[in-house]
Amino acid sequence: MVHKVKKAILPVAGMGTRFLPASKAMPKEMLTLVDKPVIQYIVEEAIASGIEEIIMVTGRGKNAIEDHFDRSLELEHHLEKRGQKIELEKVRKISDLCDFWYVRQKEPLGLGHAILRGRDIIGDDSFAVLLGDDVMYSDREPVLMQLIETHLQTNASVVGVQQVADSEISKYGVIDPQNGDHPPKTVLVKGLVEKPPLEKAPSKLAVLGRYILTPEIFYWLEKVERDQKGEIQLTEGLNMLCKESPVYAHDFYGIRYDTGDKLGFLKATVEHALRRSDLGNEFREYLSSLRPPVDRRKHGLGSLEH
Ligand code: G1P
Repeated sequence: MVHKVKKAILPVAGMGTRFLPASKAMPKEMLTLVDKPVIQYIVEEAIASGIEEIIMVTGRGKNAIEDHFDRSLELEHHLEKRGQKIELEKVRKISDLCDFWYVRQKEPLGLGHAILRGRDIIGDDSFAVLLGDDVMYSDREPVLMQLIETHLQTNASVVGVQQVADSEISKYGVIDPQNGDHPPKTVLVKGLVEKPPLEKAPSKLAVLGRYILTPEIFYWLEKVERDQKGEIQLTEGLNMLCKESPVYAHDFYGIRYDTGDKLGFLKATVEHALRRSDLGNEFREYLSSLRPPVDRRKHGLGSLEH
């Protein structure tokens, strides 16, 4: 019997060394795209896709994430007293989003290990995994919902993929699709390789941070051997699973931003700002004024010229 997907694991224990010093005393997931933390975009995608319970796999120094999704009575009281209704609404909404669970990953033993930490809360249901660096934008259905629909049709695990450039392949888990180089939107997966060099990549289709997993995955993750870095890779667990049970890849509709990378973070910031109804027009005008010559004074930026 196929059940709806109601639970999601968000692994957020990573140290975020690529964003030092910003991430020294603050979780990288709390960096903001305009005025909302990256992690909130991901939580909102999950909720818009029908998720009701979120399990955050956290680590040391990640308390700000728990606080962010909790009630803040003092702040609410303060906003209420000042009559700041819109802000009050925004703050309250965050803690009402859904039920949150927090489990610790005590050692950085990889994504597969982080997923195993959620096992007791997941139980026997299929569940979603959303990686904390991958922010998705879709003007149709949310990306996770597209994967859930494929899961409901197939009753199997589903990984979200998109084609990436040759120069990027070695950063990702890459699938070996059944239909070779031009697979349909949803394709059976024959194998997966974590971060292969280009010449060994079985396709150009990379797994981009969204998964629907059947609980069988836990059995295989227990069997995965640690890699050279001592980590248990989810990709390897899926590679083992797909030899025994069907695993599908869904080439999803939407734009994926890698906010764990500085340039990716900047692109996400600019594009999210451009889409905002309160900022987009003015920001677009400002960006186009940057094409030379830049009238810095017009934008109140001061000048370095004497
Ligand atoms: C992880 C996964 C990888 C996946 C990627 C997507 O890698 O291990 O398979 O393609 O996320 O962002 P990481 O970026 O954590 O090294």
